[in-house]
Amino acid sequence: MNSSVKVAPVERLPTPLLAVAVGTLNGKVPTSLLGLDEALDGALGRAIAQGDLTGERDSVQTFYGVRGPKRVLVIGMGKLGEITRGAARRAAAVAAKRAGALGVESLTFHVPHEFRGGVTPSALGQVTLEGVMQGAWQFRDLKAASEKKPPLKHVDLVATREERADMERGRLIGRAVAEGHRLARNLQALPGNVCTPEYLAMVARMLGKGYGHRVTVLNRAQMEKEGMGALLAVARGTLEEPRFITLEYKGGGRTPPVALVGKGITFDSGGISIKPADKMEEMKYDMSGAAAVLGTFEMLGQLKPPINVVGIIPSTENLPSGTAIKPGDVVRSHFGKTIEIVNTDAEGRLILADALSYARRFKPACVIDAATLTGAVVVGLGHHAIGLMGNDDHLMDEVRRAGDLAGERCWPLPLWDEYREQNKSDVADVKNSAGRPAGTITAAWFLREFVDGFPWAHLDIAGTAYTDGERPYLAKGPTGTGVRLFTEFILGRVRG
Ligand code: BES
Ligand code: MN
Ligand code: ZN
Repeated sequence: MNSSVKVAPVERLPTPLLAVAVGTLNGKVPTSLLGLDEALDGALGRAIAQGDLTGERDSVQTFYGVRGPKRVLVIGMGKLGEITRGAARRAAAVAAKRAGALGVESLTFHVPHEFRGGVTPSALGQVTLEGVMQGAWQFRDLKAASEKKPPLKHVDLVATREERADMERGRLIGRAVAEGHRLARNLQALPGNVCTPEYLAMVARMLGKGYGHRVTVLNRAQMEKEGMGALLAVARGTLEEPRFITLEYKGGGRTPPVALVGKGITFDSGGISIKPADKMEEMKYDMSGAAAVLGTFEMLGQLKPPINVVGIIPSTENLPSGTAIKPGDVVRSHFGKTIEIVNTDAEGRLILADALSYARRFKPACVIDAATLTGAVVVGLGHHAIGLMGNDDHLMDEVRRAGDLAGERCWPLPLWDEYREQNKSDVADVKNSAGRPAGTITAAWFLREFVDGFPWAHLDIAGTAYTDGERPYLAKGPTGTGVRLFTEFILGRVRG
């Protein structure tokens, strides 16, 4: 996607498609749109007078001009008091999605000053790029017959002379975040027979080549040497080679890194504790945490912020076979604790246990993991919040603020000692499943058994990593959850 910031009155822009985002309109044309209304021969005023154009959230009204922009979309952002970066990002996504449906290759996006809320020019530049690239995203790589409508290729932002430089700065940040987000969604969209652990490793190596990240990939034999018994236990059932991937971005000299861990199960059948067939195909998305980490390293490569970041991706398939782990099997983790595997479908926590243990060698300032870990988080929070847990209240607050800025909201769940009891095993140090009660919390407590020596936050993204329905601002399928949150977290640390 190409983009630029333009300084000009919107009504004079010779664009095929101008999208103007507005908040609730109180019955009259906002002052800053009077020029545009004139170019539309008063159509805005008439639509408002009819009560058709209200600025209601996600509403889209199309106007056709005689001068200036060929088409004008007025996108609603809802109540004035609720206009935040999130509302602007969402409106940009709605606009781009509509542009895609129209087959328009170039879009101009504008938020008049009356409707900026507290959103600064820089933030607006950022979220416009994020939103437009989100709304324009399409996944066609696996379709033999290419569709007729061309994808959106270009977006212009509109600024005043004074805000131009700030908006331009934001545009560059937004572009980097959006490229990372796009990479994550593309990886998520790929099926398990394409996006294997080695495929993820290859993407990591490519990012390393392109941006200079240090990338290390361990194979099965090397993991055995490392003693990664929990990850290897999951990998026993499949012929697909497991990979343990680390990426290191160094922009912060000798300071301790932020470590990001992503669950990389490229397909989760459940193993011997096999899942029902209905919707099992969605388990190709069980590498969404890994995709978020790789997307974040795309962003880091483009933005080059002054900070150190480590990415850790344990990756394998989870399949049943004659060599697969069985319920009741006991394995020894990288950390040293023994695990009774009572349910082979609780595999994510097994591979993450070894990754969290491995993270210690980087002496991280903090560790955040993202994982499609439990169906229970969908029961608890539905599809609108990430389940947030951890061992450090300050870190969890920081993550929550990052999530709010990113439009990836997190909601905390308690890790009280009482829940820990549920993971006790009769034969081993811990067991990997504690049944239905508080399934998201007991999964996080399991992870915590392998966390030592650093502040840690855990994101259960099982409810937010993909959608099974179309939304006005988001296509059906992968959401790229985690990339923006990680980015805001990192940028927050850089700002200090
Ligand atoms: N990958 C699943 C969790 C999941 C469920 C992700 C729905 C996305 C949508 C995970 O590996 C899993 O199977 N969890 C089990 C744990 C149980 C066996 C303790 C679950 O949630 O049922
Ligand atoms: Mn599972
Ligand atoms: Zn899983």
